[in-house]
Amino acid sequence: MDLDDTASRLGVPLADVERVHRLAADLPSAPLPDKADAPAILERLAVRPDDAAEIMEGWPDPGSPLWTPELRWLLDRSIALVRADLGGYGWLVPGPELPRDRGPAWRHLYVYAYLALVGVVLDYHRDHGVPEQVSWTTLADLGRNLAIDRRMNREGWPVMQAWLTLHVRGGIYELGRLQFHRGDGAINLHIPESGPLTPEAVAASLDEARAFFPRHFPDEHYTSFTCGSWLLDPQLREYLPEDSNIVRFQSMFELEPYKEPEGLDADVEVLRFVFRTLSTPLDQLPRRTALQRAVIDHLKAGRHWQWRTGGFPI
Ligand SMILES: CC(C)(COP(=O)(O)OP(=O)(O)OC[C@H]1O[C@@H](n2cnc3c(N)ncnc32)[C@H](O)[C@@H]1OP(=O)(O)O)[C@@H](O)C(=O)NCCC(=O)NCCS
Repeated sequence: MDLDDTASRLGVPLADVERVHRLAADLPSAPLPDKADAPAILERLAVRPDDAAEIMEGWPDPGSPLWTPELRWLLDRSIALVRADLGGYGWLVPGPELPRDRGPAWRHLYVYAYLALVGVVLDYHRDHGVPEQVSWTTLADLGRNLAIDRRMNREGWPVMQAWLTLHVRGGIYELGRLQFHRGDGAINLHIPESGPLTPEAVAASLDEARAFFPRHFPDEHYTSFTCGSWLLDPQLREYLPEDSNIVRFQSMFELEPYKEPEGLDADVEVLRFVFRTLSTPLDQLPRRTALQRAVIDHLKAGRHWQWRTGGFPI
């Protein structure tokens, strides 16, 4: 196989194609579900009708003219690459960032990979005794992310395509309000966009996790909950009331000393989560909520947001 040629036809850097080839050349892939079953599966994965329609339109039928040999190769090898790390919980890039505006096959290649891995991870969950309802609730983050990416004019996807490999490797579980991400000695909390972060909902969710992990992962020993987020930036307290959900969430954590995170710009992350944009000029952003006004005014004053990490004992 000519990797150079593959990279240029995919419109991606050669190094990205070489990485997929190196990591996944001889590993087993997994088949996609039957196309006839796909609409019902997409519904269970909370994929909205407009996203589902695009996914069905680009379906990798044998012989579909939308699927060039390079795209088929990448889909098959990406599935193999992610599948090989079943049970893993590290950050995993499933393949190169594609030029998604070339059509539905390009746009949703990693969604098809996700769909192929749903069956694989359901077996893994079953082996761990994870209730089916937890499986589907967890995996339905696909639909949530696709909808957010659409709101973001597709700016959000490069992070999402790596994020969603956690779900299909059994690395993350949604239990009530929060998502719980297995780690080394600590369970990392993630906060999906699913309504207010009330202290009651957080407490109930943490209780679920305290019961879930010893039951389903008895070989893993967790001593703390941790979190890395813009939500833990103490500067937010300058702007938000004491009884706001974000400030109350913060008060559970002991923060680690601040250090600039590598490869992550907290100002951009705040724009991602508060405005669902990465690139809109400050003057054009909405000022509807207290937080939106805080974010804009803080940046306009020449200050910066911080990505903070912290934790508390289980
Ligand atoms: C985390 C989250 C649920 C908190 O929302 P919340 O429970 O409403 O938080 P608070 O009660 O502290 O809100 C305080 C104020 O900020 C506003 N606010 C909070 N989160 C907001 C957001 N993401 N975008 C815009 N405004 C927001 C609230 O509307 C409120 O303003 P108001 O009094 O003018 O209405 C919300 O920010 C969210 O959905 N974020 C997206 C997911 C995320 O950021 N995850 C973490 C990734 S690292």
